[in-house]
Amino acid sequence: MSGPRVMSVGLACVDIVSVCKNYPEEDSDQRVLDFYWQKGGNAANTSSVLSLLGARSEYMGNFANDNEMRFLKEDFESFGVSTAHCRTYDTGYITPTSIIIMNSQNGSRTILHASKNLPEVTLEDFKAVDLKNYKWIHFEGRPCFNTPTYEIVRMLAHIDEYNQSLSESEQVQTSVELEKPARPELDQLLDKANYVFVSKEYSQNKGLNSKEEAVNAFVKRCRKGASVICAWGEDGAAAIDCEGQLVTSLCFPPEKLCDTLAAGDTFNAATIFALTKGTKLCDAITFGCKVAGAKCGMQGIRGLKNINLT
Ligand code: ADP
Ligand code: FRU
Repeated sequence: MSGPRVMSVGLACVDIVSVCKNYPEEDSDQRVLDFYWQKGGNAANTSSVLSLLGARSEYMGNFANDNEMRFLKEDFESFGVSTAHCRTYDTGYITPTSIIIMNSQNGSRTILHASKNLPEVTLEDFKAVDLKNYKWIHFEGRPCFNTPTYEIVRMLAHIDEYNQSLSESEQVQTSVELEKPARPELDQLLDKANYVFVSKEYSQNKGLNSKEEAVNAFVKRCRKGASVICAWGEDGAAAIDCEGQLVTSLCFPPEKLCDTLAAGDTFNAATIFALTKGTKLCDAITFGCKVAGAKCGMQGIRGLKNINLT
């Protein structure tokens, strides 16, 4: 594959999934229907879906030097996702892990995430990336606890500086995802990228009760020319551009809900993929909902390689 790359910066972790007949009661004991490991983390999932859709995809994040890291690296390779700019922290660091309880009745996923000591990507790491090789760089809004400065803000500013002297077609497009409400620092990212993905949970935490309310509120805090995109589970998605034009998409439910883990990451990937192809915002979020809906009907994401979206 040739041409400029799409990079996703953020978390890669191991998801340890137990598929349960019913959601368990506290202090109960049940035999699960299935159990498996898979690669997780928003940026890792997004980069994998981008590759499945046909993008030249790269993931950037940090690895620990443990067995879980070897599992993750092999998995990235099997998806054709480059990890060329990832840094491996040597001894004493632990790969983040999530225990996932998957309810086979409705595909709901309950996530118990553990992130112990692996540092976040810094601007210094990011400076090794030659921006001329990229058409789009997506950042997962990560917490800011290992550095006194918010490194995602600095990396986005670094891209802005690079873009300054270039024509629009040569510039690197940027997007950022604001998902977890427990991270107040994410607010700082609202006006730092060209496309801002806000989650339902993040919006509800700010008292916004629908996808339309969310995009209308957040676009006011974005920078000139930016667009805001918001996925809202079974209610599909909405987006608004800088001119205030609101667009929406229904969701596309699968025949049977199987696994909703990473539906949001899949939506982000498919929407970004469509936008990199020059698709209009309205059609891009519809494509995002179609691919995310298809994902909810299958275990994991590999089956997205062969989906037929009509
Ligand atoms: P997450 O909780 O993984 O961040 P969301 O619940 O916001 O993600 O869903 C992202 C997208 O996935 C939605 O816009 C929708 O298109 C699709 N989706 C999510 N849940 C369902 C569902 N139950 N049926 C069909 N599509 C869904
Ligand atoms: C899904 C996901 C999982 C991971 C968790 C981290 O969106 O990325 O793969 O365990 O969220 O919060």
